[in-house]
Amino acid sequence: MDFDGARKKIERLGAEINLHNHRYYVLDAPTVTDAEYDRLMRELAALEEEFPGLARPDSPTRRVGARPLDAFGSVTHAIPMLSLDNALTREEALEFDNRVKRFLKLSPYEEVEYVAEPKMDGLAVELVYVDGVLTSGSTRGDGVTGEDVTLNLRTVRSIPLGLAPPGNARKKTPRRLEVRGEVFLPLSGFKKLNREREEAAEPVFANPRNAAAGSLRQLDPNITATRPLDIFCYGVGAVEGVEFASHYEGLEFLKSMGLKVNPLVKTVKGIDGVLQYHDRMEECRDKLGYEVDGVVAKVNSLALQSALGVKDRSPRWAVAYKFMPRQESTRVVAIEVGVGRTGALTPVAVLEPVTVGGVTIEHATLHNQDEVERKDARVGDWVVVQRAGDVIPEIACVIKERRPPDARPFVMPDKCPVCSSAVERVGAIHFCTGGLACPAQLKGSICHFASKRAMDIEGLGPMNVEQFVEAGLFRGVADIYYLRKDDILALPRWAGRSADNLITAIEKSKRTTLPRLIFGLGIHGVGEHASAVLVEQFGSMDALANATEAELLSTREIGPETAASIIDFFKEPRNRAALKKLRDAGVVFETAKGKVGALAGKVFLFTGTLSTMTRDEAKEMVERAGGKAAAGVGRKVDYVVAGTGAGGKLAKASELGLTIIGEEEFRVLTAGKG
Ligand code: IVH
Repeated sequence: MDFDGARKKIERLGAEINLHNHRYYVLDAPTVTDAEYDRLMRELAALEEEFPGLARPDSPTRRVGARPLDAFGSVTHAIPMLSLDNALTREEALEFDNRVKRFLKLSPYEEVEYVAEPKMDGLAVELVYVDGVLTSGSTRGDGVTGEDVTLNLRTVRSIPLGLAPPGNARKKTPRRLEVRGEVFLPLSGFKKLNREREEAAEPVFANPRNAAAGSLRQLDPNITATRPLDIFCYGVGAVEGVEFASHYEGLEFLKSMGLKVNPLVKTVKGIDGVLQYHDRMEECRDKLGYEVDGVVAKVNSLALQSALGVKDRSPRWAVAYKFMPRQESTRVVAIEVGVGRTGALTPVAVLEPVTVGGVTIEHATLHNQDEVERKDARVGDWVVVQRAGDVIPEIACVIKERRPPDARPFVMPDKCPVCSSAVERVGAIHFCTGGLACPAQLKGSICHFASKRAMDIEGLGPMNVEQFVEAGLFRGVADIYYLRKDDILALPRWAGRSADNLITAIEKSKRTTLPRLIFGLGIHGVGEHASAVLVEQFGSMDALANATEAELLSTREIGPETAASIIDFFKEPRNRAALKKLRDAGVVFETAKGKVGALAGKVFLFTGTLSTMTRDEAKEMVERAGGKAAAGVGRKVDYVVAGTGAGGKLAKASELGLTIIGEEEFRVLTAGKG
C-alpha cells in the first residue's frame, strides 16, 4: 500500500474502531462481535507499524503500552475544582433550597429548576481535550493542583482519546474543552480484584473508592489498564467556542462529543423533585452496580449559578444530599477462626449487632493474619464497619482512642480450631493440615461438591451436609451416593417425602456433565472455567487423571501451579479411592457425546457486567457449546444474559419479549455442554 493509501486507511480504521468503542463502552450497545473488533484493531496496528509516521496520538491502539513513570507530575486546574456542601437530612436539603431562593430574591413559592445526579463514590478527575485530542488528565488534588495521571486515564476505555464519535462528525470540536468527572470501579470489578488479591495473598482494598484511587494512582499504566475503571462526566470546566445556557445543555454537549454521562441524570422541578429523586435513587442504590453515596442537586441555569457564586470553595448553587451512611461503629466481641474447604483459616470478627444502611451486621471477615495485623483489630476494640452494595461487610478501621487497656493483639492458633491438627502457613494464609479428617474441611468440600455450580444436588445444602457428617454418614464426597433412605429417616427432621426427594436429586446428579464433576472435586486452582478447558483437552476423567505434567502445561490457560495441584490430587490414594467409589456408584466419568453442541445455533446476547466471568469467557462458553454471541438486540436472539448495571439493551430486549436470563442460569445452561 502506498503512503497516501495507508493514511486514508489508517484514518478510516481509527474512526471505525472509535465508533465501536463508543458504542460498547459508552452506550453499552455494541454492533460488532469481539472477533470483528479484534480484526480491525490488528489491521490498524499492523499499518501503524509499517507507517509509524502516520500513527495519530489519539489512535485507539495507543491506550496501553506506555512505560512506568518514576513519579507523577502536577497539573494546575485552569478553573479550581470545587467541593460540595453536604445535606444529611431532608431539612438540610430544604434549607439549601431556601438559601438559593433567598439569595436570588425569589419568593418561597417559586420553584428553581435543578439537575439531579447520582453522587458517584469514586475520585474526581479533569480531562483536557485540545483540538479534540485528550492531552491531559489529572486528579482533583487539593482542588487547585492535582496529579498528572494522563497515561493512566488513557487506559480507561470509556474515556475517548479523541472527541466526537464519527456519528457526530459534523459537529465541530472546541479548540479546548475541560471536562470534570468521577472515575470509579464498578462493584463487579471491585469484587473480582479483591478475590484475585486475596488468592495472591496481597492486601485487599477496603472499598471500591480506595480500589479506584489505588488503580488510578499506579505509576505503571499497564497495571491500571487491567482494572476495569469507568467514568461518568458531570461537568464542564473552561471551554472555548461553545456556549450553554444551562448545566444540562453542557452535559448534552459532552454526550454529543462521545463522553460518558450518567443516563440517570435528570432535570427536576423544585426541591420536591430533588427529594423524590433522592428517595428513588436510595431505593435502587443496591441495583446500580456501582457505589453511589447520595445525589447532587445543581441549579440548572448557568446565569443563576453565576449569580449565586461560590463560598468557601463550595458553590452556593449545588448540594450533595447524602444517603443513609453505610458506615457505623460497633464493638468486636470476639475474633473467631473459620476453616474452609481448602483448610484455609479465616479470622472473622464477631460484632455487637449493628444496622448499616438497613442491614444488620454481626460478622466481618478479617481475611488473614496479615490483614488483622494491618488493621490491628483486637477483641474489645470499637471499629468502623462499612458495606458497599452487596459486598461482604468490612471493618474499615479501628477507633484506637476507644481501645480498652487490656486489648491483646490477635494471634492465629497453631492448632486447627475444629480438628486440632497442626496449622501450616503458606504465604499469607494459614492452613489446617487435617485434610478430610477435619470435619470443617469435610463439610466444606461436600457442600462445594453438591453446590449449584458443581453437581447441583438440590436439598443437600450446608445444614443437611452438617447433619450427615455428624451422623457419620459422610466421610467423603463419594458417600453421598451410598446414602440410604433408612439412614436418612433415622435422623431428626426427615420424613419419607423429603428423603425421597433427596435420593432422586442425588440419582439425577450422577448424569451431570464432566466439567461440573471435575469442578466439584475442588482441586486447588481448578475453577469452573479451568474444568471446562480440561475437559475440552482430555475428554474423560481417566485421561485427565493420567495426564503428565507436560500435557497439562501444554493445555491453554493451565499454569505450573494448577498443573502441579492436578497431579498431586490424582496421586493421592484417598482421592483415587474416592474416584473409584464415585464410578462404582454410577457417576458418569465421560462426556456424553450427544451433549456436545447442545446449544447449536442458539444466539446469546450479553449486557451489563458479569460478576464471575469476563464477557470473553462467557462468549467462549457459548461458542464451545455450539452457540453464537450476538452484538446487538434483535429477534434472532434466543437468550439475553443480563449482568449488573444492564441498561438500554435490557430494556429493548424486554420490549421485544426476548428470554432474559441471569448469570447463574447462563452457567447452568452452558455448563459442560462442550
Ligand atoms: S459536581 C462544583 N457532580 O463529589 C461541583 N461532583 O464533594 C463540583 N462527585 O469532588 C462537583 N458525583 O468527586 C459533582 N454528579 C456529581 C458528582 C460529584 C461525585 C464528587 C466529586 C467531587 C465531590 C464533591
